[in-house]
This record gives sequence, C-alpha cells and structure tokens, in this order.
Amino acid sequence: MNTSKTPITLLGLGDMGAALAHAWLAAGHPLTVWNRTPHKAEALVAKGAGAVGSAAEAVASAAGPVVLCLLDDDSVGSALDGADLAGKDLVNLTTGTPAQARKRALWAEERGARFLDGGIMAVPPMIGNRESGGYILYSGDGALFERHREALEAPAGADYVGADPGHAALYDIALLSAMTGMFAGITHAFALVHGEKDVDGSRFAALLAGWLGAMAGSAHGLAAQLESGDYTLGVHSNLAMMTAGNDTLLTTAREQAVDTRLLTPFMELMSRRVAQGHGDEGLAGTVGLLVDPAARG
Ligand SMILES: NC(=O)c1ccc[n+]([C@@H]2O[C@H](COP(=O)([O-])OP(=O)(O)OC[C@H]3O[C@@H](n4cnc5c(N)ncnc54)[C@H](OP(=O)(O)O)[C@@H]3O)[C@@H](O)[C@H]2O)c1
Repeated sequence: MNTSKTPITLLGLGDMGAALAHAWLAAGHPLTVWNRTPHKAEALVAKGAGAVGSAAEAVASAAGPVVLCLLDDDSVGSALDGADLAGKDLVNLTTGTPAQARKRALWAEERGARFLDGGIMAVPPMIGNRESGGYILYSGDGALFERHREALEAPAGADYVGADPGHAALYDIALLSAMTGMFAGITHAFALVHGEKDVDGSRFAALLAGWLGAMAGSAHGLAAQLESGDYTLGVHSNLAMMTAGNDTLLTTAREQAVDTRLLTPFMELMSRRVAQGHGDEGLAGTVGLLVDPAARG
C-alpha cells in the first residue's frame, strides 16, 4: 500500500459505494469502510481495506475525507447520528435535492465539520474506468475540494461547480432530467419503428444514437441565447418551422398507432411561444415559459 496517498473513509458499500471503494484501493489509497450490513465489507477487507463496526467509529478514526455514499439524505442523517464530526472533512456523494445538500452543509457546519456535496454522473461500471466518461460533480467548500482533489479524482473525473453546496445536486438533477426527456424520445422513436416489417432495430439504434449525439450540441447555442438575451442568435431552425414540423411528427405517430403523449407537452410549449409572436426564435424562449419566478424566490 502506498501510504503517501490520502487515506479515505467510506460509509456505504451498496453498488456505487463498493465501486468507489474498489477504485480507491486500486489507486493505492488506504481505505477504511463501514456498511450497515457488515458482510458487504468482506471482499474489500480481503483486498486490504480496514472495516469498522460503526459509522461513529469510522468518522472518529478518519485522518482524511469521510465519504458518504448512502441511499438518500435520511440515511446520511441516521448513519451519522451521534458521530463526533468536529474537524472532519465530509464528502457527501449521496444523491439528494439542492435544498437537502444546503441543509446538510449547515448541519455539518453546526457540528464543526467541513462539507462538500457531490453528484455522481456515472453508473458503477464506469467508476475506476477513465475511458468511460463518468465524472463526479462537487460543490461546497472549495478549499476542501482542492485539499483532496487528487484523491477525489481517483474513482472518476472530479468537476467542482462552485461554493453553493446545492449546486452539485442542482447540476446532477438537471442532467438527469435532460436524460429523462431523452429516454422519453428514444421510447417514442422505438414505438414508431418496432414491429415494422424490415426494420432492423440495431441499425436503427445506431442511427438514433448518432443523431442524438449530433443534436446534443444545440445546448451550447441555447446557453448563448439565454446569456445574450437574444433568442434569435445563431438560429437556423426556428420555432415556427419546428412547430409546423410537429404536425408531421404527430400525424406519423397516429399512422403508426403510437400514443403521442410523450411528445405533446413540449410541442404545446413551443406553440405557446410561437403564439406570443416569437416564431423566429430558437428554443431559448420556451425555458422561461417553464419557470415560475415568484415561486422560485
Ligand atoms: N448505482 C448507481 O447507478 C448510481 C449512480 C449515481 C448515483 N448513485 C447514488 O449513489 C448512492 C448509493 O447508491 P447505490 O447504487 O450504492 O445504492 P444501493 O446499492 O441501494 O446501496 C445503498 C447503500 O445505502 C445504505 N443504507 C440505506 N439505508 C441506510 C440507513 N438508513 N442507514 C445506513 N445505511 C443505509 C445501504 O446499506 P445496506 O447495505 O446495509 O443496505 C447501502 O450501503 C445513492 O444516493 C444513489 O442515488 C447511484
């Protein structure tokens, strides 16, 4: 074991926690683990990790970051209940909402701990695999991030997105929300073609993946429009044209006996913006239609 590497204390050995643990061990970090169900530590102990019997004991013995990868924010609260957190560096990789992350940061501060929140943009097989494209978003205590950056980069890329402890969760959930819309689109597309005579599903999948990859770059144009306030900036495919095209998408769905409800809410949003007289814009104007500024505060 290379003892010059930062020692890691990890709470939680579910699918993701175990993947992180194996990656830190493989990178030569001394590792101490705790899991509510103790037997999940056995394979790691066989590879050189230390295991302790309670979360409080794990925190007390930690000489480096204490990483949490538990089911949800409630499990973080219950696992750390009674642990002495004073002077400790907490890195919470448990998925939660931005509000939960901010509350948890205050909770840690009240107990004398430093706090960094994280959002894991990867599935377990991507952890410890540099080529996979997986990464972890971090926000909160920037000095803590810098101090442990090398250790945090061992399992996956590490991207610090700012001092607000809620921002890693906000970015994480925004990315997952975009993915959800993409999955809805993929589902609809397969509903159109699946079962059709002479359609090769794997060939179609290759076309679909390539097309979605090519279209994903439109996020950059949308960001530029939102930042400039000019929603016609760089527009090549305007809303009026797209809205007219939506009729073809819906008619085709009906011809294929496919339910249109995965598409129509977004199409209605586009139509509303056109009806407001903004058919020459790109999609940026639809963003504001979704937000209730009074409720956001
Ligand atoms: N798996 C993924 O693809 C993925 C991807 C990105 C982010 N994440 C996030 O990573 C976190 C862990 O996910 P996972 O896949 O490892 O989940 P998992 O396999 O279901 O494991 C859950 C972990 O939380 C522990 N736990 C649950 N309730 C607890 C409690 N009340 N007190 C103490 N420990 C408790 C479990 O302990 P026991 O073993 O004793 O049940 C286990 O260690 C989640 O927040 C998840 O959203 C997962």
